[in-house]
Amino acid sequence: MASSSCHILLLLCSILFHISPSIAQTSFRPKALVLPVIKDSPTKQYLTQFSQRTPLVPIKLTLDLGAPYLWVDCDVGYVSSTYKPARCGSAQCSLAGTKDCRDCFEGPQGPGCFNNTCRLYPENTINQVTLISGVVSQDTVSLQSTNGGNPTKLVNIPNFIFVCSKSTLGMLNDLATGVKGMAGLGRRKISIPNQFSSAFSFPKKFAICLSPSTTSNGVVFFGNGPYVLLPGIDVSKNLIFTPLITNPVSTAASPQVQEPSSEYFIGLKSIKINNKTVPMNKSLLTIDIAGFGGTKISSVNPFTVLEASIFNSFVSVFENELANVPKVTPVAPFELCYNSNSFGSTRVGPGVPPIDLVLQNESVFWRIFGANSMVQVNNEVLCLAFVKAREDFRPQTPIIIGAHQLEDNLLQFDLATSRLGFSSSLLFRQTTCANFNFTSNA
Ligand SMILES: *[C@@H]1O[C@H](CO)[C@@H](O)[C@H](O)[C@H]1NC(C)=O
Ligand SMILES: *[C@@H]1O[C@H](CO)[C@@H](O)[C@H](O)[C@H]1NC(C)=O
Ligand SMILES: *[C@@H]1O[C@H](CO)[C@@H](O)[C@H](O)[C@H]1NC(C)=O
Ligand SMILES: *[C@@H]1O[C@H](CO)[C@@H](O)[C@H](O)[C@H]1NC(C)=O
Ligand SMILES: *[C@@H]1O[C@H](CO)[C@@H](O)[C@H](O)[C@H]1NC(C)=O
Repeated sequence: MASSSCHILLLLCSILFHISPSIAQTSFRPKALVLPVIKDSPTKQYLTQFSQRTPLVPIKLTLDLGAPYLWVDCDVGYVSSTYKPARCGSAQCSLAGTKDCRDCFEGPQGPGCFNNTCRLYPENTINQVTLISGVVSQDTVSLQSTNGGNPTKLVNIPNFIFVCSKSTLGMLNDLATGVKGMAGLGRRKISIPNQFSSAFSFPKKFAICLSPSTTSNGVVFFGNGPYVLLPGIDVSKNLIFTPLITNPVSTAASPQVQEPSSEYFIGLKSIKINNKTVPMNKSLLTIDIAGFGGTKISSVNPFTVLEASIFNSFVSVFENELANVPKVTPVAPFELCYNSNSFGSTRVGPGVPPIDLVLQNESVFWRIFGANSMVQVNNEVLCLAFVKAREDFRPQTPIIIGAHQLEDNLLQFDLATSRLGFSSSLLFRQTTCANFNFTSNA
């Protein structure tokens, strides 16, 4: 009995191997993949890189945690023998969730301009430029797998779905030097984590660990832990969990259709500083039917952005808790600054009052220490690293947790169970996000 079910399984496996293009070309099936992430100093963007096309070319991309998919400039120098546009009505178009079907009027047929292809609207989320006719496309991508502690073999994923964009229309403006597109890790069937997980049938999970360093790599893991950082610390352990929330209304600058936001929202209930609650209008914390309200996590906002009334209240509580520390003239865009010498240094940064983001109940909170709450703006001045949202219009999302607050924290996104696992500051555990050993063990 055992042996006959085994035979049936083997038969099933071999059928699966033959019909799945991603697996057919590589007999090695990784359990997890890994990408390096480096902070670009002039733009404060987090950049990653992997290879695409045939022959393979390394592509530098700005990472966007909440963006729906990978988009790449196809205008300049896109040469590949494995490039394929997605024809209208194909399985790729339905996976991409678009029925927008067009011919190529703008120029010669080639990557980024084909007749009878489906289209998406890729967005440069740094400057909100949107291209309203990006061709849904497929090509090979290649990156390293991991055993959790080092990169291992390079793996290829044929037919990876992405969107072709056009540099001529300003889509690459305001991105870091050398960047050719944006890498979206958000909630969509064709997002990078979902395609990686489907290609190798590993769990639909990924984790980001952003480093404040502009010279050492942080890391993104795709798949389950272990996620091991030197000296041998598995940071996939001891995470605190909170549900991920979906905003039913798109947060894109120019939404293509009525669709939920691809960004990751969490259920923030209150903010405490030194255990003092920051007074605020609680109705701003829930997402209403128009998609306004709530708290999202963003890798493209360098600092947490708070709606003006929340910001003013937040700054005043923080200031009160440091009532006997003299302030200095603030350095824009920050509004509360001190002399750096006013604070002692601790393992987790300058010794300032801790900030708690209180989640589903009072005992579940994300504690933010000095390394993440304060920013050194010059040799003498240290500022509260939170900024006020523009006051001339009502922001759709009143609380955007930005990258400075995410640095040296591990965040694991479990897409199957829709929950976020977070570590709080890894500095407490005597490691940092720059401590993944990128020396290959292949
Ligand atoms: C592409 O479509 C346009 C407009 O529909 C048509 O004029 C042109 O001949 C088509 N080109 C090709 C190569 O099919
Ligand atoms: C925090 O404040 C609450 C009441 O607001 C109090 O019950 C609790 O003991 C305080 N915790 C600490 C650590 O001071
Ligand atoms: C609280 O915020 C909601 C949503 O923006 C708004 O409609 C309401 O007027 C605000 N309440 C107060 C007291 O400011
Ligand atoms: C708070 O939430 C956590 C996780 O959801 C749960 O395990 C815990 O029992 C809750 N605590 C209280 C006091 O409700
Ligand atoms: C990093 O990994 C390589 C390959 O396994 C190993 O030789 C090296 O000792 C590791 N580095 C550290 C600092 O542990």
